[in-house]
Amino acid sequence: MSLPSHGSNPNYLYDYYQIKKPKQLIDFSVNINPLGMPDKVKELWPSFINQVADYPDPQNKKLMKTLSDTLSIDQAHLLLGNGAAELISLLGLHLRNKSILIIQPTFSEYERVCRAHNCQINYYTIQPNQTICLNEFEQAIQEKEAVFLCNPNNPTGKYIKKPLLKKMANICFKHNCLFVIDEAFYDFLIDYDQSIELYKEYSNLIFLRSLTKIYSIAGLRLGYLVAHPSIIKRIQAYLPHWHINAIAGEVGQLCLNESEFVKETQVYITEERQRMMKSLTNLSFEVVESEVNYYLVRDQTRTDLQALFIYLLEQGIVLRHTVNFPGLAGKWLRVAVKTKQENSLFLEALKRWREIN
Ligand SMILES: Cc1ncc(COP(=O)(O)O)c(C=O)c1O
Repeated sequence: MSLPSHGSNPNYLYDYYQIKKPKQLIDFSVNINPLGMPDKVKELWPSFINQVADYPDPQNKKLMKTLSDTLSIDQAHLLLGNGAAELISLLGLHLRNKSILIIQPTFSEYERVCRAHNCQINYYTIQPNQTICLNEFEQAIQEKEAVFLCNPNNPTGKYIKKPLLKKMANICFKHNCLFVIDEAFYDFLIDYDQSIELYKEYSNLIFLRSLTKIYSIAGLRLGYLVAHPSIIKRIQAYLPHWHINAIAGEVGQLCLNESEFVKETQVYITEERQRMMKSLTNLSFEVVESEVNYYLVRDQTRTDLQALFIYLLEQGIVLRHTVNFPGLAGKWLRVAVKTKQENSLFLEALKRWREIN
């Protein structure tokens, strides 16, 4: 059995470490909106049963229209996915045998799917508190055919703003390199600067987005991609018919109209994350300033964080290890921003840890 390579599903961690699972668990390893899903989804849930017996619309006409209207992006530039994960997987197929650059530390699926499709992988690694150096970036993308950037980045929570992103897009364009920008967490940014608009200027850009985190529908699966129609057509050709289930199609339409819910989430996340950063610093933990709904933390007095990680598991507090993030090598722990009460319980556990360490 190996250490789980993603957050969520904490049972695998307890099995791996052979720790008895406490009755109550708080899962800080998964970055889902702590406010839950929009009320409308719960209200209308029973009515969705009527959709299940028949096949869903293979073209998802209603959802595509809602998405296109909400984003003000022409449907020819849009492609739906069964979660962003499905689209990442298809990108691996699209990039088969190619030479890829991944900006690390980041979400491990880019590397996993590209390796499965025989790509050659190189990293450009930046420290959690650093940002991109354009000269280094240009060096790193020489002879690469595609580059993956997660923005805001998972796990650091750092966001590269539009002016710098545009310079990176320019460099990629000059070198005939596809630039994949994963915006799975962009909805949690309080001041998103519409980087997505760069798709109009650069035919080598692919934006990935997810609805599963902001609307707490990870179990339903829904995401999309924004790119030039020629890219959309090629990736679409790999998709199975009916890949979006009927309930996800209905719920997606509801969620995309929930702009107030998204704003409320952004305000909550920003305030609660700031409270946590302050409290953790007061307890002499080191944190990486994040702009979204998770952050990196470490105990500066320790080079190895496994003892703290296991101590918290024993207390029913599940964090995300960073062992499989290149450049982090387990030296940090990633923590989701959850409800006020849950976050306070995490702080209490750390206070107890400080008393004995
Ligand atoms: C950066 C990033 N992109 C994409 C995904 C996959 O999202 P989805 O649930 O839409 O498949 C995740 C899931 O954790 C993620 O962290």
